[in-house]
Amino acid sequence: MTRVALVTGGTRGIGAAISIALKNAGYRVAANYAGNDEKARAFQAETGIKVYKWDVSSYQACAEGIGRVEADLGPVEILVNNAGITRDAMFHKMTPEQWNEVIGTNLTGLFNMTHPIWNAMRERNFGRVINISSINGQKGQMGQANYSAAKAGDLGFTKALAQEGAAKGITVNAICPGYIGTEMVRAIPEKVLTERIIPQIPVGRLGEPEEIARCVVFLASDDAGFITGSTISANGGQFFV
Ligand code: CAA
Repeated sequence: MTRVALVTGGTRGIGAAISIALKNAGYRVAANYAGNDEKARAFQAETGIKVYKWDVSSYQACAEGIGRVEADLGPVEILVNNAGITRDAMFHKMTPEQWNEVIGTNLTGLFNMTHPIWNAMRERNFGRVINISSINGQKGQMGQANYSAAKAGDLGFTKALAQEGAAKGITVNAICPGYIGTEMVRAIPEKVLTERIIPQIPVGRLGEPEEIARCVVFLASDDAGFITGSTISANGGQFFV
């Protein structure tokens, strides 16, 4: 039977490309989103991928939302934790709200989404959890103490959970995108992007969302069953681990 894949933050940016790539690879896909109804409606109309609204920073909202997806499509076997936000500020200007919002969505969101699905994956002896971390969780980034901390936490979560899932046929892996040409990156001040960031990328360009989506499709496949606890860095050579 066709497997069900759930992509958080799956209607825009990298997440939209992941949802579409998984659909094209034959999965039944549900795309979660948190806020932008208009974009989500347009995404559903264009792609035929069903969209579901909830906030991944709330455990209860995740449990309810996953329940709705499973009632419509069946048990979730592929979970892509992609939803993420930025609240960039130099640390001396960063507010507790900017810290908490980013940790709540980008780190606690992984617990909130994975925990309600985990037992069923264990019982079925199959699961794929794919966490979208970031180059900035690997190397740190000025202006992103909150985001870098959350994304580094995602990598610890990935490695710990991979060990727990291995004997139960569940793989847990991370992808660390570099700077990808999405709205999130285009929101960086133009001068910082062109003078400070792009010159640090050896391939000389931003990445494409589809370049991340192809990594997800591979990790979701049966062919990737021996890969767990790993991190794929897709960053144009900007940082080697
Ligand atoms: N790399 C190198 N230098 C940077 C930098 C960066 N990413 N960001 C800022 N700087 C430099 C600026 O060029 C500036 O230097 P000069 O004074 O020599 O010009 C100095 O730091 C201070 O920057 P600002 O004048 O912009 O200070 P600000 O307080 O107005 O804003 C900021 C600070 C909010 C951090 C802003 O600079 C910014 O948004 N920077 C980008 C941070 C970043 O890289 N975010 C990544 C977002 S994309 C993402 O997160 C996806 C992913 O996973 C990769």
